[in-house]
Amino acid sequence: NNDEEKSDDYLFKIVLIGDSAVGKSNLLARYARDEFYPNSKSTIGVEFQTQKMDIDGKEVKAQIWDTAGQERFRAVTSAYYRGAVGALLVYDVSRRQTFDSIHRWLNELQTHSDMNVVTILVGNKSDLKDAREVSTAEGKALAEENGLFFMETSALDSSNVVAAFQTVVKEIY
Ligand code: GTP
Ligand code: MG
Repeated sequence: NNDEEKSDDYLFKIVLIGDSAVGKSNLLARYARDEFYPNSKSTIGVEFQTQKMDIDGKEVKAQIWDTAGQERFRAVTSAYYRGAVGALLVYDVSRRQTFDSIHRWLNELQTHSDMNVVTILVGNKSDLKDAREVSTAEGKALAEENGLFFMETSALDSSNVVAAFQTVVKEIY
């Protein structure tokens, strides 16, 4: 039936990537269920959530994939990226090391996926004001250098979480 075909057209695969503990799983939990886990464990393997969203009055579905930042917990890389049309590349603004890793993640993304994956650089944990190690300007500059969207988010206080996912889906759509 026509409606089903249509809704399939609007199922977008989006992947979350970035170092361990930057908050990928909590960004997804906040976005999909409005939940936050102060003591969440590392993701093992792959998890995903399908989320309906409203873009300009049309219903689209995003299938958001989440895996471990740590190599030893990760599933087969090529399968994770296969068919992805969007990506959230996440670092933790309170840990410089996670920002330094962004080049490596971007490299992996470009190796395993299509050229035109809509990608947003996400500086998460913006609530940790006193612990900040990466400035907003640095994040913005790195995003510009690499042609990425950019946003700072907090899965804890919810700021920009919906906006970050919507930026990607809107651009794909
Ligand atoms: P892996 O699955 O190991 O790759 O980690 P992850 O990127 O999924 O990180 P996860 O979401 O499990 O979060 C790691 C820790 O950071 C948890 O203790 C979270 O509660 C915390 N956390 C996540 N997002 C935020 C945030 O926006 N602010 C603060 N203050 N803590 C956060
Ligand atoms: Mg996780």
